[in-house]
Amino acid sequence: TSNQMWGGRFAAGPDAIMEAINASIGFDKRMAAQDIAGSRAHAAMLAATGVISDSDATVIREGLLTVLSEIEAGTFAYSNALEDIHMNVEARLKEIIGAPAGRLHTGRSRNDQVATDFKLWVRDQLDAAETGLLALIRALLAQAEAGAAWVMPGFTHLQTAQPVTWGHHMMAYVEMFGRDLSRVRDARVRMNECPLGAAALAGTSFAIDREMTAEALAFDRPAANSLDAVSDRDFALEFLGAASISAMHLSRMAEELVIWSSAQFRFVTLSDRFSTGSSIMPQKKNPDAAELIRAKVGRIFGANTALMMVMKGLPLAYSKDMQEDKEQVFDAADNWMLALAAMEGMVRDMNANRDSLAAAAGSGFSTATDLADWLVRVLGLPFRDAHHITGSLVAVAEQRGCDLPELGLSDMQAVHPDITKDVFGVLGVENSVNSRISYGGTAPSQVRAQIERWKAKL
Ligand code: ARG
Repeated sequence: TSNQMWGGRFAAGPDAIMEAINASIGFDKRMAAQDIAGSRAHAAMLAATGVISDSDATVIREGLLTVLSEIEAGTFAYSNALEDIHMNVEARLKEIIGAPAGRLHTGRSRNDQVATDFKLWVRDQLDAAETGLLALIRALLAQAEAGAAWVMPGFTHLQTAQPVTWGHHMMAYVEMFGRDLSRVRDARVRMNECPLGAAALAGTSFAIDREMTAEALAFDRPAANSLDAVSDRDFALEFLGAASISAMHLSRMAEELVIWSSAQFRFVTLSDRFSTGSSIMPQKKNPDAAELIRAKVGRIFGANTALMMVMKGLPLAYSKDMQEDKEQVFDAADNWMLALAAMEGMVRDMNANRDSLAAAAGSGFSTATDLADWLVRVLGLPFRDAHHITGSLVAVAEQRGCDLPELGLSDMQAVHPDITKDVFGVLGVENSVNSRISYGGTAPSQVRAQIERWKAKL
């Protein structure tokens, strides 16, 4: 038997393989609530504009609520033969209310319907991402506040560079996730135009009111071009782009937590609640959550690439290729939200080991730049000469197996005779971080100012 929704011209039903490749109900049932909200808005508009009767609209709208309650109760029987969520819902509506159900699809198509449903779904996920990012930023701010002045090594090339503060490092992540937040908000503004009423591709001859449905579904306005409205998946790609960058940020932070929680670093202790053990090595406490967060960018960026490749070269307007958009976005959204929540939990629970951070801060000649700066400021040397002299002093200290503050004044003067004992005043790590008072620098006063700025902003 041919399809009850579109089978008029067909003598035979689809091959089983055709049905298998065509059906999207297995995954697009996640848009059931959005589909029903869209259909309810459409029915109300059709009645308001006189396209269908008020009484038909009323039974349609109530029947759709019954369908929704069946879906929520888990009693709804999904059918592969009905392809997707749109036709599954409409077919069930017909079983419940009879003939008026056939009037719901007036002046619309599954093309504008799926674009609308999917936008509503992605918009909810942008809101969820905003919530998740805000929670993570708040957890980072709490860490930064507690340790605004705790010294730790700052790295470039993962080699000791200059001392920084724990608070400064936490605030670097706040800036990163803060940009993710602004990307999410930007994307939401741009995507918030309603495709409903674009119909198949050309609009409709019925006197519909697209402003009304747009407003009912909390869109800012109807999408202005019907061809574009049904073929646009930019909103999904922007979601995946924002998710990819955020997942990349999460992976960088996760990598640092993996390194920092190792016995060799001991910068942080992760909580038991966000760690796992080994089935063979009894001593192990593994940072599995951090490792999994580090990995999530793989599938999320993969989804971004996959959808970009699906959309590339598609002619206007709708093509069935676009049905391949949803699984990518669903998977990326699930994993982005999970990674954000896991990172927030880890950050909230973790303890920075202040003593290990301080001990590491002073190793690796981390204040060599302070020494060179002193030679410039006090002895008036050109920076390049100061750099070279300091390098020689580092080589001496390295030979002795000591750090710069442990060199004697005579060792120093052997390299440059004008060096005085005052130089030791700049070799301490506390002095080093306290001196970095330039805007955005690591001095605790600057870090506290940035914390206050963020707290005022949130
Ligand atoms: N299941 C389809 C999708 O996800 C809905 C739109 C189908 N439209 C059509 N004319 N075949 O894209």
